[in-house]
Amino acid sequence: MKRIISVLIVFLSIMFSCKHEIVVTTTVPQNLLYTPSVSTIIAGTAGNSVTPSINNGGGTIGYSISGTGVTGISINSKTGVISWSTVLATGTYNITVTAANSVGSTATTYTLNVNSGLTAPLNLTYAPSGTTIVFGTSGSSATPSINTGGSTISYSLTGTIPAGVSINNSTGVISWSSAVAVGTYPLTITASNSMGSTTTTYTLTITKTATVVAPSSFSYSPSNSSVTQGVAGSSATPTINNGLGTITYTLTGTIPAGISISGTTGIISWNTTVNTGTYALSVQATNSAGSVSATYSLTVNAAATNGTVCFSTQILPLYTTYCAISGCHNSGSRASGVELDTYATIMNGINANNPNSSKYYTVIGGKMPPRSSGQMTTTQIALIAQWINEGATNSACTTSTCDTTQYTYTNGISALFANNCNGCHGVAPGSGNVVLSDYTSAMTAGTTLKANFLNAVNYSSATTAMNMPPTGQLTACQVTQITKWLNAGCPQ
Ligand code: HEC
Repeated sequence: MKRIISVLIVFLSIMFSCKHEIVVTTTVPQNLLYTPSVSTIIAGTAGNSVTPSINNGGGTIGYSISGTGVTGISINSKTGVISWSTVLATGTYNITVTAANSVGSTATTYTLNVNSGLTAPLNLTYAPSGTTIVFGTSGSSATPSINTGGSTISYSLTGTIPAGVSINNSTGVISWSSAVAVGTYPLTITASNSMGSTTTTYTLTITKTATVVAPSSFSYSPSNSSVTQGVAGSSATPTINNGLGTITYTLTGTIPAGISISGTTGIISWNTTVNTGTYALSVQATNSAGSVSATYSLTVNAAATNGTVCFSTQILPLYTTYCAISGCHNSGSRASGVELDTYATIMNGINANNPNSSKYYTVIGGKMPPRSSGQMTTTQIALIAQWINEGATNSACTTSTCDTTQYTYTNGISALFANNCNGCHGVAPGSGNVVLSDYTSAMTAGTTLKANFLNAVNYSSATTAMNMPPTGQLTACQVTQITKWLNAGCPQ
């Protein structure tokens, strides 16, 4: 019994000393801290904070949320862990947490950001990011990949949109029609949602076909031309399907002199030297893949009237002075039935455009005029041939080559005599003993017979038979030329 009492005393002594120490060490809690003190969450998501740290001051802590409570936010009163449920609306919640023990309390703030969870779209990507296609081919891109940011995306093309290119607003697939022109198009695509937008580019390249095909559908319209000789001209530009190649045009076969073609345009040209006739031209159009031909018919007609040679002032005087001489081929004599003093009678022996079958041409320089008579020069004979080739028309020229300032024998007068007088006055002794085919003889006649000579060419002689030339008076210009020459003393 005594031993039990002793033990009890010791126990009580220990109890007494311990109780005395606890009472004096409890303090106000400090340093309430959540790490982190912010949570950002997406609406509809439940969760909770970390457990806060605290200096409990030696007492037992009770946690609470102060202020107006928010439905959906709660706190564990023993641990201080804040919890939120799925019902929270988007917004920022600043939660004041109070931690208290038996002697006091401390507070801190916890921030809860509840957002929609949506972002602007990101990472819009087309793979591949472009394509190269042949002109005339429709097609479309792959569907792009994108981070939608959580909401519906609308796609659009921005910037310059080539004709024939479009985009599917909901899928982002870019389409192009067969009509999109050749070129390189950097397309800008914008993808938007309620939060914002993002862009990327897609490069569409339309090329000519790599495979050139032979040209086709080659023609000239009109495919023929009827033109006048001596007048340059050209065809219309031909039409052709170039097969997407570069065309070179050439004339094939025998190419008449004076006709040419533009290698790049296909335009056929003719110059003033092309002979009369009808030319069936063959044109070949060639590209790297082949060729195609077209024909063009060119008819070159002799000048209808008023060719370069004038009948009345250049040809008729030759026939009248060298052939239509009294006793020979004038209207009164008609030797061998040939009369060569009018257009109509001269044409009895002329075939237009064909000197070689024109009897009144071929005979000149051969049998006629007789050797004893004045002879035409080769230039005069060639002039008759040219007149026949030009159509042998009865042309009366308005322009004259006569020039009254030219009245020396060498310059003007000798040619005038050769064309109008020398058929009768070319060979000595000459009609009326007058020779005009060389300077000395002409000057002698011009000085010794000056008065008669003036009357003869001015058609003022005492008798009409003395007027020269007998077939009709020279032009006023020619009369003036001879008059000046005589009055000036017949200069050489
Ligand atoms: C168709 C032939 C013929 C042609 C052409 C001709 N004559 Fe004569 N000419 C004669 C004859 C014939 C006589 C002589 C007349 C007479 O004596 O009755 C003559 C005489 C003359 C006389 C001399 C007059 C005189 O009084 O002696 C002169 C001058 C003359 N001619 C100048 C010309 C001139 C100039 C031309 C050219 C513009 C020309 N003739 C063209 C046939 C021609």
